[in-house]
Amino acid sequence: MSSTAVILLIIAALSLYLTYGIQDGWRRRYRQRQQKQRQQLELYRLRRQGDILKLWLRHPHGQLLPKAKPGQHLQLFSQDQQGQPLSRAYSLVSDCQQQRYYMLAIKIEAGGKLTPLLAERLSQGQMLTCSYPKGHFGPAVSLQNLLARLSQQPLKATPLVLVAGGIGITPLLPMINSALRQRRPVTLVYQARRRIDLLQHRKLRRFAAKTQLQYLPVLSQPDGNWPGRHGRITAAEVAQPGGKQAEYLICASAEMVLTLEQGLADLGCHKVRHELFSAAHSTQSFAITLGTAQANSLGHSSVLDALLASGVKVPYDCRGGSCGACALRIVSGDCSNVLQSEFSVGADEVLTCCVQATSALQLAFPYGAADAAADEDEQYPSPSATLPVIDYRQA
Ligand code: FES
Repeated sequence: MSSTAVILLIIAALSLYLTYGIQDGWRRRYRQRQQKQRQQLELYRLRRQGDILKLWLRHPHGQLLPKAKPGQHLQLFSQDQQGQPLSRAYSLVSDCQQQRYYMLAIKIEAGGKLTPLLAERLSQGQMLTCSYPKGHFGPAVSLQNLLARLSQQPLKATPLVLVAGGIGITPLLPMINSALRQRRPVTLVYQARRRIDLLQHRKLRRFAAKTQLQYLPVLSQPDGNWPGRHGRITAAEVAQPGGKQAEYLICASAEMVLTLEQGLADLGCHKVRHELFSAAHSTQSFAITLGTAQANSLGHSSVLDALLASGVKVPYDCRGGSCGACALRIVSGDCSNVLQSEFSVGADEVLTCCVQATSALQLAFPYGAADAAADEDEQYPSPSATLPVIDYRQA
């Protein structure tokens, strides 16, 4: 090999190394920025519908809120009775076109950690600490849809089929508004237990009567007066309006997502993405080790949940696969995905909020101890720490 070829090889290797290093730095900075951004919003309206809590939030001084995209969520931060930090991500229900308020719809889970506390403690006029809107679950950007919109030929756009199970409707509602505004054909198949569990049912029926929205609500436990479809939705029903060309977005429980995705794949529908609103709890017992700390997978919905339940201090933020804060390196063992992640990590890393252990698992922090400690400090502010209001017009 000539000396020129050797020099070129060295330059190529150096470029690769530098590119990876720069990307890694960006990723780390992105994680840290995601964890730092907080805003304090006023809860100006609070309503309850069955076991769903509806929250309307606005800026305390009436300023415009940061713009959100359809499908994004806000993370709420609170503390449990012992002063330990608690946080959960909740999808934005409000139309993302406006920036005057955010609306969240939260299902009160009897065995949950944060939602019963919220139901008990929240009152109108209260200030809540929230993240900025984040997340990447939403319709794909496509040239075909853009051209159809520009040429005002909506029928040429890819049909959008949204499938909701229960509270999984929340990220899909802003997508309906956005698709209707773009005159894109959109279908909503909405599975719930009872009529009272159907969020915005009347509004959706109105939209369906006036626009190109096709709306199919399905109840599994209807009362005698329910005139619509009852039972469980099937993949054939979901595929019927859009066919193989449609884009499918599903937000439901793990069980419903798995069944529908399998059925849609069998019917030749492959443009399917999902977001889970809850992962099933593990029925298997595997030891999870991080340094000297120990946890067990049994009864937990993710590796992150298992670690936190055992008091192991690990960084996390969205708990939904969109921020990358919970990434850890796998030293040995296996795990499987229970949540679809929108954030890519290194080949030997996992987002612990998105995986379940499928064998004994040994984990390590993906980068230096100093960074990990910095992340921990970020995630675990002292209970008395007050978070400043951020003026996001300048952010
Ligand atoms: S906590 Fe955000 S990706 Fe896991």
